[in-house]
Amino acid sequence: DKPINIGIIGMGTVGGGVTELFATQAQTYAKRIGKPVQVSKVLVLNVAEVPADRKEHIADGVLTDNADDFWSSDFEILIELMGGTGAAYTFVKKALEAGKHIVTANKALLAKHGHELFGLAHKNNVSIAFEASCGGGIPCITALKYGLMANQIGGLYGILNGTCNYILTEMTQKNKTYDVALKEAQEKGFAEADPYLDVSGADTAQKLSILASLAFGVHIEGSQVEHIGVDILDLQDIQFGAELGYDIKLLGTAERKEENGPVSVKTQPCFVHKSDLIANVHGPMNALSVYGHAVGHTMYYGAGAGRYPTASAVVSDALNIASGWYGAAFAQMNLTPDCNDPAELVAK
Ligand code: HSE
Repeated sequence: DKPINIGIIGMGTVGGGVTELFATQAQTYAKRIGKPVQVSKVLVLNVAEVPADRKEHIADGVLTDNADDFWSSDFEILIELMGGTGAAYTFVKKALEAGKHIVTANKALLAKHGHELFGLAHKNNVSIAFEASCGGGIPCITALKYGLMANQIGGLYGILNGTCNYILTEMTQKNKTYDVALKEAQEKGFAEADPYLDVSGADTAQKLSILASLAFGVHIEGSQVEHIGVDILDLQDIQFGAELGYDIKLLGTAERKEENGPVSVKTQPCFVHKSDLIANVHGPMNALSVYGHAVGHTMYYGAGAGRYPTASAVVSDALNIASGWYGAAFAQMNLTPDCNDPAELVAK
């Protein structure tokens, strides 16, 4: 069988995990989807600067810093792992227009340009898969789109940023200061290149806009979600809560009280009772709780950041597209240009 070729842009922490999974699990994946899947080209800014542990599982002749070489190669699925909303936006658009499917972990890109990009995907009859954009390895996008399709979603809330949850856990359990805990999160590789995105709540707001758009079938942009971050907290706030039996968690919340009514979205530090499930989500872990009118409360838990958990979501998306399972249900997604006016639907 002719293999399905995959192009990747960007080779950071997650990229290393993605190429490793494709290389080491090749036989299993081929069996699962009925044909081989391979990484055929990887575009980076500078080949010489890619660390050895990220090149280890990339075949000879695949890694390039020549954009012409990359775009002239033959691949059906583009995995975008460069992050940000600049070049990533241009490259994803270019790939969609060329009829290629997209897999992305880029929450910032979708929170800002998702509306346009999903419209473009729809027009070109291809998919954008984005499981890794929210909740790292937790299949929460899949749950919302497939598993809960029968439900009217009343609300959702979650811990969506591993860096902030790591900081809060260390402050709560070990009395570490905010600055020490943040530095450790950066060293452990959970934090964004610009950690302000994590600690200000902006990253959570971007993820929340994606989850709320999916859950309620509306178009909410990241910039429409008000956010207060963990950077306003100090040890005293944590100790104050503890005296009353509460922990502080940075929660993204989205709620719709009546069918077709306004959706309220917000990201802020919240006191949660120590006995609550979500208070027991520690370290860089994430959790998402979704309420559906038929199913009731559901909760999803797992690693929200890191090389292999994020690679798990990215590679699963690519395999689902390669096997032809992804398109049908997602073609119905409401993130297309003629969906509702966000200004009317978002109430804060
Ligand atoms: N900086 C993010 C986090 C990475 O800490 O959760 C995953 O999106």
